[in-house]
Amino acid sequence: MKDMGQIVCFANNKGGVGKTTTAVAIGQAWARIGKKVLFIDLDSQANLTTMVSPLAPEDHISTIRDAFLNKKKFNIEHVTDGIDLVPSELALSNFDRDTASLTGREYLLVDLLAPIKNKYDFIVIDCPPALGLITYNALIAADHLVMVATPDGLAYSGMVMVANLYADVKQNARLNQNLKLSGVIITKYERNKLSDMYVQKVKDELGDVFIEPLITKATKIAQAGSFCQSIYDYDPSGKVTKQYAELANNLLQRVL
Ligand SMILES: Nc1ncnc2c1ncn2[C@@H]1O[C@H](COP(=O)(O)OP(=O)(O)OP(=O)(O)O)[C@@H](O)[C@H]1O
Ligand SMILES: [Mg+2]
Repeated sequence: MKDMGQIVCFANNKGGVGKTTTAVAIGQAWARIGKKVLFIDLDSQANLTTMVSPLAPEDHISTIRDAFLNKKKFNIEHVTDGIDLVPSELALSNFDRDTASLTGREYLLVDLLAPIKNKYDFIVIDCPPALGLITYNALIAADHLVMVATPDGLAYSGMVMVANLYADVKQNARLNQNLKLSGVIITKYERNKLSDMYVQKVKDELGDVFIEPLITKATKIAQAGSFCQSIYDYDPSGKVTKQYAELANNLLQRVL
């Protein structure tokens, strides 16, 4: 095992494909087996923040936005055993404009994480559904990129766009040659012709990084998220809970 903390980011340009749900379920699974996990919410929707923290959105002392704009104010919240959080907030949606005059604004996250990286086994980053400066920061700072998609055409296209950005970041010696595409995860799977066709397409084209098992569609998952409960507490013997636990274990082998 590497002695350095590993930074893992979850991305897709397409919205609503299960990025946040997956990042949370995997980070929580790793914490449950004794890993020290820091969640970084990079989405101004702050969905991860709401899912993980019992605080009301306005009660966070400071957020990742404050950290980006004023490096001294890097507030890391302790949430529960093995889990810390850097929350997000709606105002992060102005990130591109707020940082327009900063030089090196692609490296803000690299600089923030460098001094704390080794305090954690894993830093889990949830990206917004966009390929702007925030996702760029995430890919430049990360060791591992995990793409999350539902089995359909739009999510597949969103994934191809992230893969192109990944290639861009990797090819540029000054950006992040260390970045690895370490996983492709399919969520909200329902057995039908179209889904099966896209699952097959992902396996054919990205088979070496596709991670079993498929995560099936289940309302319990959405419920757990809205009650600020981990799926492991909300539905411990549920089918999707077991799928996520197995997935977290399989991904762990690739990111250690
Ligand atoms: N396996 C699943 N079965 C059913 N619903 C799911 C599943 N996974 C996620 N969801 C629900 O789908 C919605 C979108 O999920 P999530 O927020 O994780 O996606 P996202 O890709 O992070 O979205 P965004 O792009 O807006 O950040 C949420 O309401 C979530 O609870
Ligand atoms: Mg999300």
